[in-house]
Amino acid sequence: MEAITHLFVYSFLFSLFGISIAHDTLTPRQSIRDGGTLVSAGGSFQLGFFSPGNSKTRYLGIWYTISSETVVWVANRAAPLNDHSGVLKVTDYGVLVLLNSTNGTVWSSNTSTTPQNPVAKLLDTGNLVVGDRNDGNPGKFLWQSFDYPCDTHLPEMKLGWNLVSGLDRFLSSWKSTEDPSPGEYSVRIDLRGLPQRVNMKGDSIKTRPGSWNGLGFTGRRLRPNQVFDYEFVLNAKEVYYEYKLLNTSVFSRFVVNPSSITQRLMWMDRTQSWETFLTSQVLGN
Ligand SMILES: *[C@@H]1O[C@H](CO)[C@@H](O)[C@H](O)[C@H]1NC(C)=O
Ligand SMILES: *[C@@H]1O[C@H](CO)[C@@H](O)[C@H](O)[C@H]1NC(C)=O
Ligand SMILES: *[C@@H]1O[C@H](CO)[C@@H](O)[C@H](O)[C@H]1NC(C)=O
Ligand SMILES: *[C@@H]1O[C@H](CO)[C@@H](O)[C@H](O)[C@H]1NC(C)=O
Repeated sequence: MEAITHLFVYSFLFSLFGISIAHDTLTPRQSIRDGGTLVSAGGSFQLGFFSPGNSKTRYLGIWYTISSETVVWVANRAAPLNDHSGVLKVTDYGVLVLLNSTNGTVWSSNTSTTPQNPVAKLLDTGNLVVGDRNDGNPGKFLWQSFDYPCDTHLPEMKLGWNLVSGLDRFLSSWKSTEDPSPGEYSVRIDLRGLPQRVNMKGDSIKTRPGSWNGLGFTGRRLRPNQVFDYEFVLNAKEVYYEYKLLNTSVFSRFVVNPSSITQRLMWMDRTQSWETFLTSQVLGN
């Protein structure tokens, strides 16, 4: 009983000071300060502040709980904070804002509709979403981090185009291991001719993993495996590539790194490390 009272008092104090305790949602009355985190409901991902490598600058990002140095998404990629005073909030208009020590906005999300009861949530897929609690459709998002990929393609994330809005979701490497701002290498879906996945350096296409012929990327042998399944969707509204894990207790990611290498990795419980499954170079082998 006493423990429960303490818990109640602590959570009251925490909410009073706006300190986040382990949870996956953020509402306009709350905030996440540097040091606080959101943890997805299944515990797979966390959102919070970090400094890459030996750098001192701070970024808001999402990483794996099993491997906190494996950052899969960064909000303020090209706008680092110089101290630990960053704060993440969601406004009454359903916009995520990252504020610095003088309350200047260093990064923000956006939305075309104003929700009545906005809430941000870190999903167990690693997707940070903003939705409306009053909306009966929980799958409808006003904004989602999966629409603004960095260097990592996660399961269930669409890589490619929403032809209606013109949104192009593509991967871009970090500039260096200590600088997440967009680097030279990108992996995207090229709509010219038969839509295909292309690896680029700057504005020029360096390699083509292949066109989609309805069965697989023609240039690359589809590896039959028990780990993931991939799909290329091509219709009047969308053109995208997506993969799903067949066993959801396995972690797998695809990344384009600062030195032009693309890799598909899998987490090995046994060794507690990432093992490379497939690797190639943007510039060709
Ligand atoms: C930033 O905003 C908070 C909350 O609105 C306020 O308490 C604080 O004084 C502001 N800080 C500065 C430097 O303006
Ligand atoms: C905070 O951000 C604003 C807007 O980006 C900027 O003008 C201001 O210089 C920043 N303050 C600090 C202390 O970096
Ligand atoms: C949101 O911002 C992105 C750029 O960051 C822009 O391309 C997009 O059109 C904006 N969407 C809306 C709904 O304003
Ligand atoms: C899924 O992966 C886990 C962890 O590697 C493993 O223990 C389990 O047997 C797998 N399940 C299936 C159905 O393959």
